[in-house]
Amino acid sequence: MIAAEKLWAALKLLRTRDVSPPWLWTSGLSVLLVALPFAVRLDGQQHADWLQFLGRFHPLLVHLPIGLLVLLSILEVAANSRPNLRDAAGFVLYLTLVTGAISLIFGILLAYGGGVVGSTVMRHMWGGIALLIELLVCATVRPAWISGRIERAYPTLLAVTLLTLAWTAHQGGSLTHGNDYLTDYMPGPLKRLFPSSASDAAYAGSVYVRRIHPILDAKCAACHGASKERAGLRLDFYELLMKGSKDGAVIAPGNPDHSLLLQRVTLSPSDHHFMPAEGRTPLSPDEIADIRTWILAGASPTATSVPGITLIAENAELPIQPVADYSSLMTEIRAMQSSQGAKLVAVSAKPSDGLILQTVDIAFKFDDAQLAPFRRFAPFIVEAELGRTAVSDDCFDTLSKFTNLRALHLEGTAVTGRSLSKLSSLSQLRYLNLSGTKVTSEALGPLKGMPNLHHIYLFDTPAESSSQATDSTLRSTQ
Ligand code: HEC
Repeated sequence: MIAAEKLWAALKLLRTRDVSPPWLWTSGLSVLLVALPFAVRLDGQQHADWLQFLGRFHPLLVHLPIGLLVLLSILEVAANSRPNLRDAAGFVLYLTLVTGAISLIFGILLAYGGGVVGSTVMRHMWGGIALLIELLVCATVRPAWISGRIERAYPTLLAVTLLTLAWTAHQGGSLTHGNDYLTDYMPGPLKRLFPSSASDAAYAGSVYVRRIHPILDAKCAACHGASKERAGLRLDFYELLMKGSKDGAVIAPGNPDHSLLLQRVTLSPSDHHFMPAEGRTPLSPDEIADIRTWILAGASPTATSVPGITLIAENAELPIQPVADYSSLMTEIRAMQSSQGAKLVAVSAKPSDGLILQTVDIAFKFDDAQLAPFRRFAPFIVEAELGRTAVSDDCFDTLSKFTNLRALHLEGTAVTGRSLSKLSSLSQLRYLNLSGTKVTSEALGPLKGMPNLHHIYLFDTPAESSSQATDSTLRSTQ
């Protein structure tokens, strides 16, 4: 803290500009700045609340020197054609220095007060210190550049300072948003160049990698990861998760009730020790249940299946397959409409988006025999609205020919599910509504392996009430 006060006093002196010789000041201050991280040691402990309170203004304050430094560069370039801007640039440089120094002090308060440690914090802090030293040197050489005694040194320095700024800001961004903030939505080919930091490559395909790690990564790693290690605990790799915190293990394999991690996430959210801390999004009941089941089964990093944990298929949503052009059949399609009463309606103006089979106006008398002629257009039909029609189990013979079918409404019909297996060849089927039918859970068996079928509705059916297990495996998985 004393160092910071000295720095402050020195900066004020510097602003008065009558300091001489300037280089002596610059080197003195630089030495002080470099000594700062050694004077204020980050010990991973949280300190007085007021330190944290002030410190939390750092992320807000830093935008001042950042903006000013960019403005400074713009002014210096613009002054080549508008010389009267040159004076303003000098003033902005001093403002950048002063606000930069204040931001640095608040940043150190934040890290020290909040007990933040880790390599990213250190890189960010050294970046900030380097920036201030560069700014000091800029301020020292600028007068010589203005008077024409030197030519290149100042612009070069300014460019270097801007690069340091970008790097430091990125480190700071990683601290607040997590390491993968910039790369998360990166296009696939680029992403391969920047492999994600947290991947337990050796356990690919395991329940841990597919279900447990993603939960901890999304909800805990911001504070228990590479950039911050609260309580000395990291949850972003299996080995570190099992190693536990500075006080020991947080997972007791086979014994969820003795696992500190599970205890902390199941406390009342108002409890001081509730995790995730600081009002971050809590774990959902499903997530907690799966972590419990996984610990109970031994917390293995390699097991590829754990009874009770449903893994979402990796290729969860395959891209929608366009259908062929039906334009040449338009006359037939219209004729069909007037003879059968059911309509084939285009999804959009693009033929490749397919057709919807609609029966609304004649639903009560639309039966298997009337459905049969639609085989003629089978490959173009992407949706069949057969809810509350008179179709029966025989309709599946026809429907199994609708190879591009994505959504099938059979709610309120007489189907029992006896021949549901005929649908299993419909690889595009995503939505199946069987609510209000007599379908049993046994009848649903053959549908389990269907790759795209994520939404099955079974409200008010024997399947819904007879078996919880079937329901939860077939429930919509989003
Ligand atoms: C906003 C920051 C933050 C988030 C997010 C967070 N934690 Fe913590 N965690 C802390 C802090 C700070 C401590 C130390 C203070 C304490 O024990 O309450 C801690 C301590 C813990 C401890 C106790 C370690 C020990 O041995 O004392 C466990 C276990 C834990 N966290 C698990 C989790 C889990 C699981 C998640 C994700 C669901 C999570 N944390 C998310 C900040 C966080």
